Amino acid sequence: MLKIALSKGRIFKETLPILSQAGIEPIDDPETSRKLILDTNRDDIKLVIIRASDVPTYVEYGAADVGVAGKDVLLEQGSSGLYEPIDLHIAQCRLMVAAPVGWIAPTTGRLRVATKYIHTTQRYYAEQGKQVEVIKLYGSMELAPLVGLADCIVDVVDTGNTLRANGLEALENIADISSRLIVNKAAMKMKYVQLKELIERIRVAVAS
Ligand code: ATP
Ligand code: PRP
Repeated sequence: MLKIALSKGRIFKETLPILSQAGIEPIDDPETSRKLILDTNRDDIKLVIIRASDVPTYVEYGAADVGVAGKDVLLEQGSSGLYEPIDLHIAQCRLMVAAPVGWIAPTTGRLRVATKYIHTTQRYYAEQGKQVEVIKLYGSMELAPLVGLADCIVDVVDTGNTLRANGLEALENIADISSRLIVNKAAMKMKYVQLKELIERIRVAVAS
């Protein structure tokens, strides 16, 4: 049995055509079903539906054999315990620093940065020799500079619509992001034949 960990929404929607081309079709729709383990047309493959930021944890502990996770999540959580064999080129965006339009970074004092990516943000500024105060948020980062909680934010940007709608602009690109297939290291040994077949099917689907 192989378990594939996916999150609802964007990643599920964008992974579905790849899985379909690889011959895997879910029986239930996670947007309407309350089930967290979904059957597929293949008796030996199930999908487990979890939050995007929990996917690497399930795969690292072997509760799922493979999963799909954004590179932003992998950078933030550290993914050394996982194989990351395929860039799926889905859910593409950029991890960026953004601030109110026209804002100029002060040359003295500590910058206050609001983000859910606290480790990546600390690392980014530390590499530049800058000490910043990082404020952890769980969503709606764009609000923080508008109400004086922070000077700027670190968040993912795609179209830039959310930034524009809130009078913010992107200033610096920290990383280009897409979703990756991740694989549990022990499963890669124990279920080698099954996993190799699955990975190769997905590789072909992505390449086409
Ligand atoms: P969680 O529920 O764990 O907080 P989330 O709400 O960030 O996660 P999604 O919004 O489904 O989950 O995003 C999943 C992944 O999609 C992110 O980790 C990121 O890699 C990518 N992503 C996020 N926002 C966008 C966007 N606007 N455009 C394209 N890709 C995005
Ligand atoms: C993400 C992100 C930004 C937005 C950027 O939020 O947190 O707010 O997308 O995309 P844009 O540049 O195309 O506007 P999402 O829509 O995933 O909502 P979320 O807060 O539920 O993650």
